[in-house]
Amino acid sequence: MVLEGKTALVTGGSSGIGLAAAKMLIENGARVAIAGRSEERLAKAAQEIGGDVLPVVADVTSLSDLAAMRTNIENALGSLDIVFANAGVAMGTPLATADEATYHRIMDANVKGVFFTVQAVLPLLRDGSSIILNTSWLNQVGTPGRAILSASKAAVRSFARTMSAELLDRRIRVNAVSPGSIETPIHRGKDQTEEEFRAYAERVGTQVPLGRMGRPEEIAAAVLFLASDASSYMLGAEMVIDGGRSEL
Ligand SMILES: NC(=O)c1ccc[n+]([C@@H]2O[C@H](COP(=O)([O-])OP(=O)(O)OC[C@H]3O[C@@H](n4cnc5c(N)ncnc54)[C@H](OP(=O)(O)O)[C@@H]3O)[C@@H](O)[C@H]2O)c1
Repeated sequence: MVLEGKTALVTGGSSGIGLAAAKMLIENGARVAIAGRSEERLAKAAQEIGGDVLPVVADVTSLSDLAAMRTNIENALGSLDIVFANAGVAMGTPLATADEATYHRIMDANVKGVFFTVQAVLPLLRDGSSIILNTSWLNQVGTPGRAILSASKAAVRSFARTMSAELLDRRIRVNAVSPGSIETPIHRGKDQTEEEFRAYAERVGTQVPLGRMGRPEEIAAAVLFLASDASSYMLGAEMVIDGGRSEL
């Protein structure tokens, strides 16, 4: 119970990596608020998590939603020790055909959303808190059709450095987790069958040195480490958890 007595916010806590992280933070003693756009998905996640969880409906691209989220968290939890700014989207953007609307959907959720989530909850953060951002292995490689997504995640990687520098006087550490391809709903096509998804996951696995996609819990374990005092000497850094894909 390394997080006993601590409070946390996980954006995008209703699914995938955020849901796994919320579970793990709670299992380790924290009280956790999970944020997302869909009330229904949040309620389902809260039920699955059990434990001490506060669902908060908020779209991270909306500054008024983020202000309401802060009030909600302040009323229920008082202050925050941990923020996992994880909410994000992924879409292909081929150079020749990507449209402006898709550019804004990606940049608004992945860049604006992360920046203003941190800004919104800053007054609730206790000195010595830990902020964890979710970037991606794509932030350092050139992958065809992924220009905007990769650039959005490179911006998030940069935030970990600048935000850490700016929050030094409050001893607030900002680090990033950098997942490889992780089996979450973000990879699932709208009408994709389970069989089609398994075939996709197997294909992706062949591109990974470890031979498989990752599990959300494998990212959650890094989030737990960065949230806890075990990582007290880390700031502005990135933990790459990608089965070796960007390194080997
Ligand atoms: N899975 C991977 O392979 C992978 C790899 C590298 C990085 N990542 C990053 O990991 C993060 C989580 O992705 P995931 O794979 O766990 O995907 P996921 O299962 O689709 O979860 C995304 C979560 O973000 C929430 N969300 C999306 N847009 C939002 C918005 N505007 N405001 C508030 N919440 C929003 C979603 O809830 P609602 O839809 O209900 O709002 C959901 O809870 C993302 O930032 C993604 O880029 C994932």
